[in-house]
Amino acid sequence: RIENSLRPQTLDEYIGQEKVKNTLKIYIEAAKQRNESLDHVLFYGPPGLGKTTLASIIANEMNVNLKITSGPAIEKPGEMAAILNNLQSGDLLFVDEIHRLNRQVEEVLYPAMEDYAIDIMIGKGASARSIRLDLPHFTLVGATTRAGLLTAPLRDRFGVVNKLEFYTPDELKTIIVRSARVLGTDIDEKGASEIASRSRGTPRLANRLLKRVRDFAQVKYDGAITEEVAKFALDLLEVDKLGLDNIDRTILTTMIEKFSGGPVGLDTLAAALGEDSGTIEDVYEPYLIKNGFINRTPRGRVVTESAYYHLGL
Ligand code: ADE
Repeated sequence: RIENSLRPQTLDEYIGQEKVKNTLKIYIEAAKQRNESLDHVLFYGPPGLGKTTLASIIANEMNVNLKITSGPAIEKPGEMAAILNNLQSGDLLFVDEIHRLNRQVEEVLYPAMEDYAIDIMIGKGASARSIRLDLPHFTLVGATTRAGLLTAPLRDRFGVVNKLEFYTPDELKTIIVRSARVLGTDIDEKGASEIASRSRGTPRLANRLLKRVRDFAQVKYDGAITEEVAKFALDLLEVDKLGLDNIDRTILTTMIEKFSGGPVGLDTLAAALGEDSGTIEDVYEPYLIKNGFINRTPRGRVVTESAYYHLGL
């Protein structure tokens, strides 16, 4: 069980990602009717959109245990073998950042996913041979920021592949109202809308901003979240009308001031910003692209006219 009461526990409580939700419902129902484990599931998309939440919901709906690990946490094939060998029948193994598994560890997963078995090498030199160890049937749920980061053999072994999309302001508003109820905080329509419109299409950010606005409401106002409190708090947090924060704006102004708006290569831009290029590509850029502030071209990233406009340049 994941520690966070803001996370929904069932698909019916889960707001947004309708396509993903509706297909998962069918697959879960079908697997349960057949008394089988659910096929392996891959979720991909920008951080904070609900990949971990969905994994825990699947475990909950299938009435199975949830084991959580991540790509960088497993360094040796033997560690992966041990995790798999300790699973009970039907268990769900969630591997976050699954694209960061190293090659040898990933190779342990192939027969595990395909045949519910692991191959273990015993002996050395001429007498070396591999023995096959059967595993209980289990469901692997993998999460990654981009499906393209996975090797083809790994990607091909997922029976269900789901892309998570940014949430609409209306969906975020519903999530914020629900979260406020869970937190026991009063919030009005306009207060919720204000936070929603500044949450970059991302529930994790919406919930984080909600908590910060709640602090201001409690200390500076009478406790209730209104449009006024939300605006006051979010302006102080330097989250702008479209949800861009200081880092987003620095990315855009750096592209404009140091690279004449582009095209600029990702690595060059990353070096100028002192940021990791993978973080820019996976965390910051998707929302800037979705909002039409950055375009990708074969020669690099370019800033669009709406970015200049939004920044008042
Ligand atoms: N909290 C975070 N994400 C959520 C979602 N998609 N639905 C409901 N509550 C959430």
